[in-house]
Amino acid sequence: MKKAILGILILILVSLLAACGSGEASTAGKKGENVLKMATSADFPPFESYDEEGNFIGFDVELAQAIADELGYELKIEDMDFDGLIGSLQAKRVDIVLAGMSATEERSENVDFSNEYHRSGEMFISKVEDDFKNLEELKGKVVGVQLGTIQEEGAQNLADEYGFEVKKVDDASILIQELNSNRIDVAYMDKTVAAGYINSQGFVGFDDPTTSSPGMAIALPKGSDKTEEVNEALKKLKEDGTLDKLKEKWLSEYE
Ligand code: ARG
Repeated sequence: MKKAILGILILILVSLLAACGSGEASTAGKKGENVLKMATSADFPPFESYDEEGNFIGFDVELAQAIADELGYELKIEDMDFDGLIGSLQAKRVDIVLAGMSATEERSENVDFSNEYHRSGEMFISKVEDDFKNLEELKGKVVGVQLGTIQEEGAQNLADEYGFEVKKVDDASILIQELNSNRIDVAYMDKTVAAGYINSQGFVGFDDPTTSSPGMAIALPKGSDKTEEVNEALKKLKEDGTLDKLKEKWLSEYE
């Protein structure tokens, strides 16, 4: 009998503990109306990456922090594959995405975008010894792109015409490894990010002559009640010079 009571007590304790654990995730919004959950794909310096201690750093990270401060939220950041970001907004698992994400019309069908905060272009980069100078020279070559990006779609559209093969990877930093180990000949990526790799790793590259991509913006779930306040905070940060300061700190050497 005693054993049975003990057993029941343990059961109650265990289920109480379990309830606490799962409650944290599901009531995070309630307990802290004040938490702003952001998702990113931290493989994209100077916009988002990790420092040596494993902290998130970069332009998007500081911009998100400034917006959260402005609106009185505590910012929580979650890292995932770029290809999963839109889905996590659609499932309303996060409130905002800052990931150097271009505000395309196609994505706008599934998520809301804030006003733009940065404009970039696209570049094809390669090792110095290859030194590809234009699309014609990519015939028969392997061009690497990150899955789910506008570069994936862009490369796919050019592949037939210029006779190259497209290789897709989940993580943008893997593109650099692939390039260094000759598993791809060229990486096709955002120009600001490419400029960083040209500086730091001695790659060379040429601008994509075919596209002009839409600017980067903050993505939110469709119909989010936060879109307006995020836009207001962004406007304020533009007006008071914070945005320029962040651009100066993170992006100026790449432009
Ligand atoms: N701007 C491009 C896009 O929206 C690439 C963004 C990739 N971002 C990242 N954090 N890996 O598709």
